[in-house]
Amino acid sequence: MTEVSVQHIFGNHQEPLGLECWRDDRASAASRNACDHLLQGLFESGLDPQQPASARVLVWREQQLVASAACRRRGWPLAADRMVSGAHVGYVCSHPDFRGCGYALIALRRLMAEMEAEGWLPGILHCVPALVPFYGQAGWISVAAGGIYSQASGEGRLDPDPVMAWDPRPQASLDGLCVSPFPLGDDW
Ligand SMILES: CC(C)(COP(=O)(O)OP(=O)(O)OC[C@H]1O[C@@H](n2cnc3c(N)ncnc32)[C@H](O)[C@@H]1OP(=O)(O)O)[C@@H](O)C(=O)NCCC(=O)NCCS
Repeated sequence: MTEVSVQHIFGNHQEPLGLECWRDDRASAASRNACDHLLQGLFESGLDPQQPASARVLVWREQQLVASAACRRRGWPLAADRMVSGAHVGYVCSHPDFRGCGYALIALRRLMAEMEAEGWLPGILHCVPALVPFYGQAGWISVAAGGIYSQASGEGRLDPDPVMAWDPRPQASLDGLCVSPFPLGDDW
């Protein structure tokens, strides 16, 4: 994906929604600012130019940004001689005033379509246990009981939350990703 893609769809309640999908360096300033504002309010950080997303989806309802999701291409060393590459999904969120409307799932599914089109597979994400059913609705499966993040000190930081994976390719098996704890690498 090189340009910003814009699409219009109807949401679960048949309201018109605008879907934007972009690489972090291609978005308009207005979209970047709106996204940064939403992320700052929900996560510890907003858009990070040092760690740009490979693809980021924004869901708009009229002029209101209601949900977003992003992924970053990367690889994971599952064994000394086995590196798997794909995309790490993160920053999946919806605006607090628009929860339970299906918008987060719409953002996630649009992002997954982009990952499939680009071949950025498998997808990996790390979430709190309460969100396993949410991601499960989109086809994600738990593959590990925890993940290890690398730190500047060189030591790994163990996070016990589940790691989930998704790979729609016909021959794909997620069995090989069942490595606990999963080597997530640097945090995103
Ligand atoms: C998690 C989050 C994205 C869900 O957003 P949302 O707008 O409520 O999600 P949607 O409306 O798209 O939900 C779609 C489905 O997932 C379900 N779901 C949403 N959150 C859930 C939760 N915490 N536990 C179980 N199911 C959940 C909904 O009930 C709905 O299912 P239904 O269609 O059967 O009713 C939102 O709560 C959020 O932004 N949280 C803060 C940021 C965050 O923690 N992101 C996750 C990073 S891993």
